[in-house]
Amino acid sequence: MTSILLNGDPVRLRLDPEMPLLFALRDAANLTGAKHGCDDGSCHACTVLVDGRPVRGCQMQLRELEGAVVTTIEGLAGRHPVQQAWIAEDAGRCGFCDPGFILAISALLATNGNPSDADIAAIPNACPCGAAPGIARAVRRAAAEMSRQQRQQTASQPAQTRAEAGN
Ligand code: FES
Ligand code: FES
Repeated sequence: MTSILLNGDPVRLRLDPEMPLLFALRDAANLTGAKHGCDDGSCHACTVLVDGRPVRGCQMQLRELEGAVVTTIEGLAGRHPVQQAWIAEDAGRCGFCDPGFILAISALLATNGNPSDADIAAIPNACPCGAAPGIARAVRRAAAEMSRQQRQQTASQPAQTRAEAGN
């Protein structure tokens, strides 16, 4: 049995510990946002977040996940700025790669609020439909929106809290 926090809920997976996370999510937890796109670990369509970092669900076994915090595209619930930017920029094409890209980009922007073209190009997810230009626009739009939200949040803090936080 593997105990994880899945999209905010404690979950016990009574499954073979050798099972890849991707299949536990899709076939046991009924979370089909993460996609099975290849058999060699190259496409990253199966990307989910484990402890905030993007991982390929097909390459990680349940035995590696005891106590982990797992977030799938369903856990973002359509409210993440990357999802909003995706829609605004009409970034998707067939949609197959969208969940993996969106989670990878959300992790990137959590640590790098102003990614360069090289940072964006380094996202390892593949899109055979050629959606890369729209995806890059969505990354920039989401980064700008997250930065705006952060400024707004800082400005709304009481002055003493800002001073204590060094803002
Ligand atoms: S399904 Fe292609 S890398 Fe996981
Ligand atoms: S794989 Fe079709 S839009 Fe990326």
